[in-house]
Amino acid sequence: MEPADFEARAAELLGAGAHGYFAGGAGDELTLRDNVEAWRRIALAPRVLVDVSERDTSVTVLGRRRPHPFVVAPMAYQRSAHEDAEIGTARAAAATGSTFVLSSQTSTDPRAVAAAGGAADRWMQLYVFRDRGLTDDLVQAAREGSFEALVITVDFPFGGWRDRDRRSGYVVDHAPYVQLSGTPLTPAERHAMHDPTLTWDDIAGFGEASGLPIVLKGVLGPADAERAVQVGAAGIVVSNHGGRQLDTVLSGAAALPAVVDAVAGRIDVLVDGGVRRGWDAAKALALGADAVMVGRPVLWGLACEGSDGARRVLEQLVTEFDSTLGLLGCPRAEDLDASYVVAPA
Ligand SMILES: Cc1cc2nc3c(=O)[nH]c(=O)nc-3n(C[C@H](O)[C@H](O)[C@H](O)COP(=O)(O)O)c2cc1C
Repeated sequence: MEPADFEARAAELLGAGAHGYFAGGAGDELTLRDNVEAWRRIALAPRVLVDVSERDTSVTVLGRRRPHPFVVAPMAYQRSAHEDAEIGTARAAAATGSTFVLSSQTSTDPRAVAAAGGAADRWMQLYVFRDRGLTDDLVQAAREGSFEALVITVDFPFGGWRDRDRRSGYVVDHAPYVQLSGTPLTPAERHAMHDPTLTWDDIAGFGEASGLPIVLKGVLGPADAERAVQVGAAGIVVSNHGGRQLDTVLSGAAALPAVVDAVAGRIDVLVDGGVRRGWDAAKALALGADAVMVGRPVLWGLACEGSDGARRVLEQLVTEFDSTLGLLGCPRAEDLDASYVVAPA
């Protein structure tokens, strides 16, 4: 089975409720679809007669050299996809040199995920919960598990309006690590855990308390990107949360150029949403991103074949990216720039 087939197979394997939770987006899912389409609309503009016999897919993110630009996006409740859960995706990331981001809503204790990932690159995604004790516990686990950065998700004051979950009435079939009561929560109860009073004033405190670099995930505009620089973030993720929060917001691909302009190289810029092929990542780097996060494709691999499936999805993305550099006539990923793409008029 090819990675492209994983999505269809995962839909068969997972029940309608779980599949709808993983696949779905907010409202009419216009942003969900646009995330994928926006990369497809950008054309690649190759150069010819360049020596591409050797290619270098590596990038530098948060001051560290990484073998390629793929980062596994934080995704909640992975045990509902497969029993390998976060340990499976962390191992797949480690095996492929991908940076792994563990969700705050992990099904697995972060320390166990860290042990499974060994020396591989891992970041902890942080939701700021009303119960700050839960958030502090995650920060503590991040430090104990040698997580390299905190990815604070800033586009989730509360959950988006998700029609599929409302229709299915899906209740996640297990309690995640942070939910100490141990009883699975309804979507409304889950969303109520988040602290909607969180503001820019709170951000620097997380960096100080943890001693870890902060990446803000869910920035879509240049003014917020500037504020992220001002509060001392080390990076941002241009993201609309995989189309799961507010429908009809702009895609990461569309938002990226203005954010890159505003940031002007002062901090790292990642982008996510709809990255499905290696050449999508090349387009993102050409538009100024330092790296890309990939979400659902990894989950579909996990759902179908556990850790091996997630690894196969990541391997294919890396291979496609490498071949894109060659066929584009740009053998070094870090030399990609806007001259290699033509954005839609
Ligand atoms: C099932 C699912 C769960 C997610 N859970 C989280 C989460 O816990 N924290 C977070 O910051 N983002 C979460 N996201 C958003 C992803 O990190 C990422 O922004 C998005 O999935 C990227 O889009 P893609 O799936 O099209 O690649 C989730 C996405 C999905 C699909």
